Amino acid sequence: MLRLEDLTVRFGGLTALNSVSFAMSDGEILGLVGPNGAGKTTLFNTISGLVRPRTGRILFEEREINRMPLHARARLGLGRTFQIPQPMHHLTLRENLTVAQVFGAGKSDPARIDEILDVMELTEHADRDAATELALQELKRLEVAKALATNPRILLLDEVLAGLESQAKRRFVDKLRELHQRYALAIVIVEHDIETISTLCSRAVVLNFGTLIADGTPAEVFRDPAVVESYTGAADA
Ligand SMILES: Nc1ncnc2c1ncn2[C@@H]1O[C@H](COP(=O)(O)OP(=O)(O)OP(=O)(O)O)[C@@H](O)[C@H]1O
Ligand SMILES: [Mg+2]
Repeated sequence: MLRLEDLTVRFGGLTALNSVSFAMSDGEILGLVGPNGAGKTTLFNTISGLVRPRTGRILFEEREINRMPLHARARLGLGRTFQIPQPMHHLTLRENLTVAQVFGAGKSDPARIDEILDVMELTEHADRDAATELALQELKRLEVAKALATNPRILLLDEVLAGLESQAKRRFVDKLRELHQRYALAIVIVEHDIETISTLCSRAVVLNFGTLIADGTPAEVFRDPAVVESYTGAADA
């Protein structure tokens, strides 16, 4: 459903993505891992249309989307979350979701928003100010809810589990599995915790300094010497 061919992104002299290629199929749950600064968020920004690649192609359901603006990509079914939750100030959760829905789905559908609030266990907070009245866990659930409001076929999740304590993380992982089933979603998740990737994902790809260095099952990838080296190298730096 999503295919990246030879994607290269440069910021001035820095090569943030270096000829990255991989494909994923319908309904797959893919882990995207790699040390800090490896290019994971840049990859999401490039797929969703915030960053333009220097070379390469992005195909979604066999259509090249390189030149499509952000909202058009969202309307095709590309949903994403942001590493730093960014709810809109002075808007309630429900209003935040409505804005996301109009942006990404093209029209407002209050019944669907109610459903998403329910699925993401946010109904009791629906009329609170999203930017000031939520705890981290709820902010993370709101990030996912906003992405769901765009009616995605694929969800790009950028560290939605980061900062959660282990029990909250496990519950969130269960919720992601539920969303995967219920909405027949493909998921790409950026996450640093190896155990989480190993339990949630059938496959993982690893970026290091913008280059894809491994692609396989989590078990294969995490025992690959190049992957181990990329992490220990980063820890020594
Ligand atoms: N808009 C930008 N302008 C200049 N450099 C950027 C920009 N965005 C990212 N970079 C650089 O590109 C590289 C990749 O950054 P990116 O945020 O994609 O990494 P990441 O894998 O998401 O890291 P982390 O795990 O810390 O979130 C880094 O060196 C970063 O400083
Ligand atoms: Mg990042």
